[in-house]
Amino acid sequence: MGGAPRTTVWDMDPHTQAKHELLKTYLGGWFPILSTYNGRIVFLDGFAGPGRYKGGQPGSPLIALETLLDHSYFPSMTQREFLFIFCEPHKGRADNLRAELQDLVQRRAPWPKNVKFDVIDDDFEGTARSILATLATQKANLAPTFAFVDPFGVSGLPMEVLANLMAFDRCELFVNYMVNPVVRFATAENIDDCLKGLFGTTEFLKAPAQGREKFLHDLYERQLKDVCKFSFVRSFGMKNKTGNTIYYLFYGTRSLKGLEIMKDAMWKIDPGGGYRFSDRLAGQDILFTEEDLIPGPLRNALASRFKNTTVTIAQIEEFVLVETPYRKAHIRKQALTPMEKARTITVKRPGRSGFPPGTTVTF
Ligand SMILES: C[S@@+](CC[C@H](N)C(=O)[O-])C[C@H]1O[C@@H](n2cnc3c(N)ncnc32)[C@H](O)[C@@H]1O
Repeated sequence: MGGAPRTTVWDMDPHTQAKHELLKTYLGGWFPILSTYNGRIVFLDGFAGPGRYKGGQPGSPLIALETLLDHSYFPSMTQREFLFIFCEPHKGRADNLRAELQDLVQRRAPWPKNVKFDVIDDDFEGTARSILATLATQKANLAPTFAFVDPFGVSGLPMEVLANLMAFDRCELFVNYMVNPVVRFATAENIDDCLKGLFGTTEFLKAPAQGREKFLHDLYERQLKDVCKFSFVRSFGMKNKTGNTIYYLFYGTRSLKGLEIMKDAMWKIDPGGGYRFSDRLAGQDILFTEEDLIPGPLRNALASRFKNTTVTIAQIEEFVLVETPYRKAHIRKQALTPMEKARTITVKRPGRSGFPPGTTVTF
């Protein structure tokens, strides 16, 4: 399922680099924000891989660790403990990862005492269940955790386990949802148990022949909101040259700030080689590239959401961040300024220009 390689290490797909850049950019914002509040922070790489690709590129465990070590704020985070948990049930890959980590420790000597890591020779589900059992015995909470769940296919990441793990404060999920196996097998009956686990429901069986991908995508998104109780869930599709989506990266959080950092990261990264990140708004694909940015859907979304009402700039910002693919940075230049010029909105502002806090907009 999902064309998984049989070898210990494998060649990196071109679009994997974009996924890694995204992880790096997001973690660059996430580490310092969480470390302001909490003693311990966990990065859980549920499907860690061998640590390095055949061509020498680092895998997600090294990327996560080096993003922290190289962070300009890291020297001021000595009171925080950072724990990196890497699950890898394939023996050869786990050993390879251990060797890569040893190498990193040597290259970065003296290794900081507040950064710990553990390679677990077990699958994600088993590891998550054992963490949860330990926490239950200790009547303890999971420290703020960023869970990166990056499987080859669709097995081994049951919704129920994600929900239990993510039930704690300030836990976030970044999960790779592979389109092909889900769309192909949703009503084929041969992997029903696996899909039931993935979705946490049997509703995937109702996927229609037409609009199947969207139905299943929306079902997964809804389950992340309803079952995992994330306040905000956004998905980012990785499209290939022919316009087909290979996978969606779903991001689940309860933090508006987290969502803002993730959106900014998404727009910053250009996968290159014909690949594009995308999202949908009112049935239209929005590609995440600043140079191809189409502002029409954003203006239409604002006009229809706030029709005949007067709202604050803060309300507009929250709507755009939570309900649309766009970033906060697009609101003024791409939407409000041209809309004011076209007189489709009237603006009351505290100062002479711009849309500072305290501005109200009538649509
Ligand atoms: C897509 S690769 C991970 C790539 C890695 N996250 C990166 O970005 O460099 C998936 C890995 O998950 C491992 N794996 C397979 N089944 C697993 C399971 N049930 N739980 C955890 N890991 C699993 C595979 O051996 C493989 O190394």
